[in-house]
Amino acid sequence: MENYLDFKLNIFDEVTSTNDVLQEMAVSGALDKTVVLSSSQTKGRGRLGRNFFSPKNSGIYMSILLRPKIDIADVSLITPLTAVVVCEAIEQIYSLSPQIKWVNDIFLNGKKICGILTEGAFTSDGKIDYIIVGIGINLCLPKDGFPADIENIAGAIALDYSEDKKTALIHKILQIFDERLDRFSSKDFVSIYRQKSMVIGRDVTVILGENKTYAKVLDINDNCELVVQYENGKTEALSSGEISVRL
Ligand code: BTN
Repeated sequence: MENYLDFKLNIFDEVTSTNDVLQEMAVSGALDKTVVLSSSQTKGRGRLGRNFFSPKNSGIYMSILLRPKIDIADVSLITPLTAVVVCEAIEQIYSLSPQIKWVNDIFLNGKKICGILTEGAFTSDGKIDYIIVGIGINLCLPKDGFPADIENIAGAIALDYSEDKKTALIHKILQIFDERLDRFSSKDFVSIYRQKSMVIGRDVTVILGENKTYAKVLDINDNCELVVQYENGKTEALSSGEISVRL
């Protein structure tokens, strides 16, 4: 695969984690829109220290380096923007309609098909140095199945693996990402994030560290925070944390 639009693609067969490889490149001065792609990862990482299962010929494991000129307060919107971009790209390439589970997961038919891990660093004077957006997408079911701990949660977009479809999806993600990033300040992705949410109106368990509390999701606000109402009637806008949907 060649460079695409302004994106500089670095393609590997196997790496520990594309986020880790790109972080080293970022520290050494890599430019905005440098991308690392790998066919597999031996130490793919998810949020909260979890593994991201990344076998060969099964998925897209991609990290994008950004050095954006945005407000520090808006850094937390990069993950929601990316979730919208990935959903739109999947819609266009596969004619499917995935949904977003706040804040960084994408689901199809009740199964997680994509996770997003955004990491970054600030300069000593408090500006954004770089942001790394890591995207992991399960394109097809791994040939030996998913590991036991995720087999009930994880799913895939398609039955068969196609290198052409994979390239098409990568290009579509980068194209839409570029367009949406250009008009980041309009925040026009927020309403789409809300529309594609699978949790608004649902009963959930809010997990904050060891604490688990029942709540109902009322809305997602303009900062992409999750507005919940607890059983005692109190409402709160959550900017981070994890939820599980109660059936
Ligand atoms: C999650 O599910 O919590 C996020 C998963 C993010 C996985 C992607 S795969 C490419 C990039 N490299 C990593 O090690 N993680 C991200």
